[in-house]
Amino acid sequence: MSKLPTSTPAPRVYPIIEQFKARYDFPLDTFQIEAAQELLEGRSVLVTAPTGSGKTIVAEFAIFEALDRKLQVIYTTPLKALSNQKYRDLLEHYPEDQVGLVTGDVSVNPGASVVVMTTEILRNILYQNPHRLDSVLYIVVDECHYMNDMDRGTVWEEIIIHAPSHICLVALSATIANAHELAAWISSIHNPMRVIEHRERSVPLNHFYYHEQRLVPVFDDQGEMHPKLQRIATKLKQQKKQAQQQARLQGGKRGGKRPKPDKPAEAQVVEVLQAENMLPAIYFIFSRKNCDDALEHCLDSGMSLTTPEERKLIEAEIKALVQEHPSLKETGPSTENLLLALPMGISAHHAGLVPMLRHLVEILFQKNLVKVVFATETLAAGINMPARTTVISSLSKRTDGGHRTLTVNEFTQMTGRAGRRGKDPVGYCVILGGMYQSPYQTADLIEGDYDPIASHFSLSYNMVLNLFRKLERPEIRGVLQKSFGQYLTNKEVINMSLQMEQKKQALEQIAPSAETKSYIRHLRGQIRTIQKQINRQREIYLQEFDAISRVLQYFRRIKPQGKAWELTALGDTTSHIRAQNDLLISLVLESIDFDELSPVEIAAVFSTLVFEPRRNMNHDLSPCSNQLRKVFKEILYVADDLRYVQEEENIHLPITVEFDFAPLVILWGNGCKWSTLFKFTEMADGDVVRAMRQLLDLLRQLETLPYAPDTFKARIKEAIAAIDRDLIQIIL
Ligand SMILES: Nc1ncnc2c1ncn2[C@@H]1O[C@H](COP(=O)(O)OP(=O)(O)OP(=O)(O)O)[C@@H](O)[C@H]1O
Ligand SMILES: [Mg+2]
Repeated sequence: MSKLPTSTPAPRVYPIIEQFKARYDFPLDTFQIEAAQELLEGRSVLVTAPTGSGKTIVAEFAIFEALDRKLQVIYTTPLKALSNQKYRDLLEHYPEDQVGLVTGDVSVNPGASVVVMTTEILRNILYQNPHRLDSVLYIVVDECHYMNDMDRGTVWEEIIIHAPSHICLVALSATIANAHELAAWISSIHNPMRVIEHRERSVPLNHFYYHEQRLVPVFDDQGEMHPKLQRIATKLKQQKKQAQQQARLQGGKRGGKRPKPDKPAEAQVVEVLQAENMLPAIYFIFSRKNCDDALEHCLDSGMSLTTPEERKLIEAEIKALVQEHPSLKETGPSTENLLLALPMGISAHHAGLVPMLRHLVEILFQKNLVKVVFATETLAAGINMPARTTVISSLSKRTDGGHRTLTVNEFTQMTGRAGRRGKDPVGYCVILGGMYQSPYQTADLIEGDYDPIASHFSLSYNMVLNLFRKLERPEIRGVLQKSFGQYLTNKEVINMSLQMEQKKQALEQIAPSAETKSYIRHLRGQIRTIQKQINRQREIYLQEFDAISRVLQYFRRIKPQGKAWELTALGDTTSHIRAQNDLLISLVLESIDFDELSPVEIAAVFSTLVFEPRRNMNHDLSPCSNQLRKVFKEILYVADDLRYVQEEENIHLPITVEFDFAPLVILWGNGCKWSTLFKFTEMADGDVVRAMRQLLDLLRQLETLPYAPDTFKARIKEAIAAIDRDLIQIIL
């Protein structure tokens, strides 16, 4: 190691960091200390490090320091479940009155010193009550790579754009390709941000390829593909060729049908893991049904992974939960099997299960009572549930856009859950082999480059209204210019400007003559085209902004006031609705007469505007009254009106109306049993809970809308009380 030059100043010692260190029984990592120092020097930080490296410590330092200075922290997470977990964690270390939680589901201590919230809630505060943040020192943005989420990514951009500059951001992210680009953008619009990049995993990960009931290391000591695996790869390639030939012969036509992939049976895999002392494991399978099937398969094979003592503990937990929530006995077959399998240490975790049961699985897994969990990808993005081993059953998954290979980010996020810091010296990742997931594909994913974060900034009615609330058009133009989308585009604009400059220089050097005339014209044409492109690119969002403004004006949500625009009462109301169908919801509020409807019927009306079905469902509207069905027709008319105006303006914001969930709201709101619901729907238990909670989220917003009559609000309140019961309820 080279010697440090003697002139290097001694590192500064910050007493507060020393105090902070004393809280832990392990020494802090360099990256954690560096991040803390940056914060103390008043800079924002973007900490990118692999899963399980200890990024949370940086956020904890921010909390520690803010509280020490009698200031506040907002802690954002992308998911309600993560927010709940964070809140519970904080309660273990801080007095109850200092900690708060605000999500679409709950609001506890919203004014506390440390408040955990979902990103959407923070966005609303930034728009509607920015003074709430006057004594906030830090905003923690946990899992900020969510900015890359197609639908929700815009929320992260918006909070970064609108965060007051006295606040430092503590952004925590999984490894991304363009951390420096992201930080440069934030530095340019917010306050200086340093990137703290930590690439090493704290617990190293060993990768294995599962082939014929054996675990073959993917790499040898030199980091090359293991020779054994190379031989397997050749063999698999031949098999694949033969299988394809056979299929061609059988299928008759060219190409034939792709033969079914050969998959090792899950029970066998688990047995191998048990024999190798590699449990507990998270076994990723990208379909709920296949997770359930895997669990059933293990049950049927008579597998048990627990000791008699462990079994007793698990059974006691189950008994307590079922006693408290007897309706759990009425949930579908997935639950039944799960409750049978849990005492054996086997479990499943996916969105089809009610949250209460998912939570039980999480707790039992964290207590090391459950040894294997068959989980869909939702677990990778969700709660903190580290394991010794992760199993990846497939290197591709089905999406709305068809079958595709996993991205490096997705693969790493899942496999990275293996190796618990302080518990396992190494973590294991097992990739199930087969003809259609070759060793080479596996190695490519392990060694591949991370994806960059792109911009998903997008305008909505709610956003435009909130911008009009505070700003006038010239300033709003400035806000749109601050987006990451515009920042990235501006980089392209620089390139285009350079191109244009070159063309102009070329033009200047040509002496006009009969021969050069047409070339000069050609060059001028090119320059004009580039100029037009540049003009368009300089303000990519402005046209859409103006189009949305015209729709808002048409529906009297804004009105001219001198040279500026101001929100009408209807506009103010709309600006408080945080939902995809924001404008449609407010149009329904405006045009439907709710006096004739019962509270639960009112809830059913709004369910049609928040419900997103997973697939086509049964249409059985029999639980809905004629009166209500008449209202449904009116909603279709209102939606059509909006759709027509949007199309005129070439706006593509989604407008969705779905009646299928309304009957369930009527039944549940009127006190039916859990099992009754499933006579009217093929939805999974977990999906029903999710949809009800989404509805409750909207109803809570309606309950506090400005300008809504008190009688309406009182009935919304009644509806909430009728729906928010039993398995629907959130347990913190
Ligand atoms: N310096 C350290 N030494 C030892 N253990 C640590 C250290 N820092 C954090 N840990 C422990 O590492 C574990 C994982 O930390 P943490 O949850 O913060 O990871 P993360 O980087 O946020 O991962 P993820 O990407 O999954 O959110 C925790 O149990 C934590 O207590
Ligand atoms: Mg984390």
